[in-house]
Amino acid sequence: MGTKMRRRDFLKSASTLAVAPLALPVSEALAAQSTAALQHAALTFPKGFVWGTATASYQVEGAVKEDGRGPSIWDTFSHIPGSVDRNDTGDIADDFYHRYKEDIQLMQRLGVTGFRFSIAWSRIFPDGTGRVNQKGLDFYKRLTDELRAHDIEPFCTLFHWDLPQALQDKYEGWRGRETAKAFAEYAGFVAGQLHDRIHNWMTINEFPSYINSGYGEKPHNAPKMQSTRKQLAQTSHNAILAHGLAVQAIRANAKNARVGIAQNTNGAMPVVETPEHIAAAKKAIRHFNEPYDVPILEGKYSDRYLKQLGGDAPQFTAEEMKIISSPLDFYGVNIYSTIEVVAADNEDGYLVLQHPKSYPKLVADWLYYNPQSLYWIPRLMQEVWNVKEMYVTENGCAAEDHMTEDGHVYDTDRVNLLRNYFTQMQRATAEGIPVRGYFLWSLLDNFEWTRGYTQRFGIIYVDYASQKRTPKLSYDFYQAVIARNGLA
Ligand code: NOJ
Repeated sequence: MGTKMRRRDFLKSASTLAVAPLALPVSEALAAQSTAALQHAALTFPKGFVWGTATASYQVEGAVKEDGRGPSIWDTFSHIPGSVDRNDTGDIADDFYHRYKEDIQLMQRLGVTGFRFSIAWSRIFPDGTGRVNQKGLDFYKRLTDELRAHDIEPFCTLFHWDLPQALQDKYEGWRGRETAKAFAEYAGFVAGQLHDRIHNWMTINEFPSYINSGYGEKPHNAPKMQSTRKQLAQTSHNAILAHGLAVQAIRANAKNARVGIAQNTNGAMPVVETPEHIAAAKKAIRHFNEPYDVPILEGKYSDRYLKQLGGDAPQFTAEEMKIISSPLDFYGVNIYSTIEVVAADNEDGYLVLQHPKSYPKLVADWLYYNPQSLYWIPRLMQEVWNVKEMYVTENGCAAEDHMTEDGHVYDTDRVNLLRNYFTQMQRATAEGIPVRGYFLWSLLDNFEWTRGYTQRFGIIYVDYASQKRTPKLSYDFYQAVIARNGLA
């Protein structure tokens, strides 16, 4: 068969496939097509959506003995051999205390409009209460001035787990109600001092991670204080009381404050999106968050929670429940994954599905790959608790990053994760679910608590020996998303 024949056959079969003749020259057609493709793919976010990155004091600052900072429970704990992988500590971390200017430049290049960081309580009050350390305060003034000079809005967390050691020693940390009062004093003081620079405040980061994991029945985080069920329930109560007292103290001391929280609300997701499974997920999310989110958002503990605890239930007053549920301007949620449920004909009305062994996961053993969490958690927060304004205060990926010989980190796993999580977050905002901003965890690789420096969450690679920063491929990806305010 000759070439001509084959060509004719091809054209014949093509015409049976009803391929339309090109009306434009090829180059123009291709250009038009790519514009159309771009428009089609324009999964954009609302105007003014805050794109940010997140960090926390002990994980990045280092300089633990500098300028009068008092010790925190994480200094003590990380120095006890065997507490942290490879006995890593936060002594130096990313040396952010000295390098914040360089890091803010990297943020500016990235294009972020917000930066979430935390204040180390013991830099301000080295003993937890009483004596103020002006030099500690000055650091956060310098930091926030620099952010503002680069048009980056500071979002400040007041407590990200580094409790002053003095309060652990004096009151057994969060086991003591006095710690809640001390926290409110600290929060009010800092808000009064920094309100001209900081408008967005988050009281506390992730209750379960420092209460249940620090004071639980089987604790593994600082201060690793084993408790009975009764002690734990009271400790959880003290923590939400601290949150409520701090909300009031911030408002009393800072006129323009917008006050929120950064909580890792346990998500529930209907595996199948039908009304019966969605209704099941709504029931589940209330059950999964009984010690923290329910009292904060509903003003009371659920009957089910109190009944389950029986004689171990916390002691509280009606007045305290009012304080705990003080109105917030926004709810910040740290979202990495979610529990999956289906409707069931049982007392709860749902069944929790265990992750099969082959379920995709990142390098952290808890980090199941579930982009839909960025849609379902905000949606259920709105539908179940009528939350009117939300931020994703954390989301990100622990990956095994390697630098190539020519100095690149091609973290395609992180890019893949972010792209798919963003798609689901866009689905939420497109439906009018009030997610106002997103803070990627994390700007830099950093001290990942008991995992030390073995797990990297940054979009900027940190060589800890030299402190050299190298933006990863995910940094370029995020930069393009921010520039477009949409999927890139
Ligand atoms: C939650 C915590 O707030 C943060 O400190 C931690 O590093 C990330 N998640 C990743 O585990």
